[in-house]
Amino acid sequence: MQTRLQQSTLDALSTTTPNEPQKFQAAADREQIARRIGELGEWFHNLDLYGVPTAPKHFLGDFPNVKWRHIAAAVPDDLHGATVLDIGCNGGFYSIEMKKRGAGRVVGIDVDDRYLNQARFAAETLGFEIEFQKCSVYAVDSVPGKFDYVLFMGVLYHLRYPLFALDKVARKVGGKLLFQTMIRGSEQTAAWEENYHFWNKDIFREHDFPCMYFIEHAYANDPTNWWIPNRGAAEGMLRSAGFEIVNHPELETWICEPTRVKKRGRYIQDLELAGEL
Ligand SMILES: C[S@@+](CC[C@H](N)C(=O)[O-])C[C@H]1O[C@@H](n2cnc3c(N)ncnc32)[C@H](O)[C@@H]1O
Repeated sequence: MQTRLQQSTLDALSTTTPNEPQKFQAAADREQIARRIGELGEWFHNLDLYGVPTAPKHFLGDFPNVKWRHIAAAVPDDLHGATVLDIGCNGGFYSIEMKKRGAGRVVGIDVDDRYLNQARFAAETLGFEIEFQKCSVYAVDSVPGKFDYVLFMGVLYHLRYPLFALDKVARKVGGKLLFQTMIRGSEQTAAWEENYHFWNKDIFREHDFPCMYFIEHAYANDPTNWWIPNRGAAEGMLRSAGFEIVNHPELETWICEPTRVKKRGRYIQDLELAGEL
């Protein structure tokens, strides 16, 4: 449902670009926005909707602004015409940030209706045209075409089948992948041999050796946290899915290009599922 703002506010909005500081906001409209934010349930993304925060008490602070602050400079200021697919878009923070930089078509997908409704409300309120669709990363093939930017942020560790999903994501990346995952264990990388002897058990005692921690029950009270990589595993999986890491703006975020997502002219995933990899 779209919040109806006062005509004076709408008139002012139509003459104010989203990047300009907001010169006005009738108290009544802020009340209306605050009411609607509340009706849409608990938010994970703290967005600023004309001075009204959507998640001011987030346990990670001003999230995901605290994260974006370290990533923003690694993304071009001018994204005019670029297409964007935001997988696991949640309340729409990253979709909106890309749109603020002039991106053309922006599609946000998520499995959770609550988050999708929040994202729709936020985008409409801020005056951005973004398509939000209910779709799992596992069904991302149903979104046609490739995108200049694919965002796959904060989703991998929520999946029971992380590499299966990453291989699917690889098929949608026409330009760059912005990838983020929670990291636990070693935050260092090290050089590893391409192969080890069957009886070499020492490498598995190395703290930096690529490792995925399996969470049987819950982590941070969240039973949807399944596999949490250390840094070596995160970077190893990206390379294994055919990505070249071109930037690493902060510990948990990588920018990648899909340089080797196909082998012998076929996607890694197709080869694997056919038993031909
Ligand atoms: C930790 S939040 C990350 C949100 C946002 N991308 C970010 O980085 O701030 C994880 C999001 O992934 C969504 N999600 C979980 N499983 C998914 C799936 N199979 N396909 C698409 N989205 C999924 C959740 O609903 C949630 O919105």
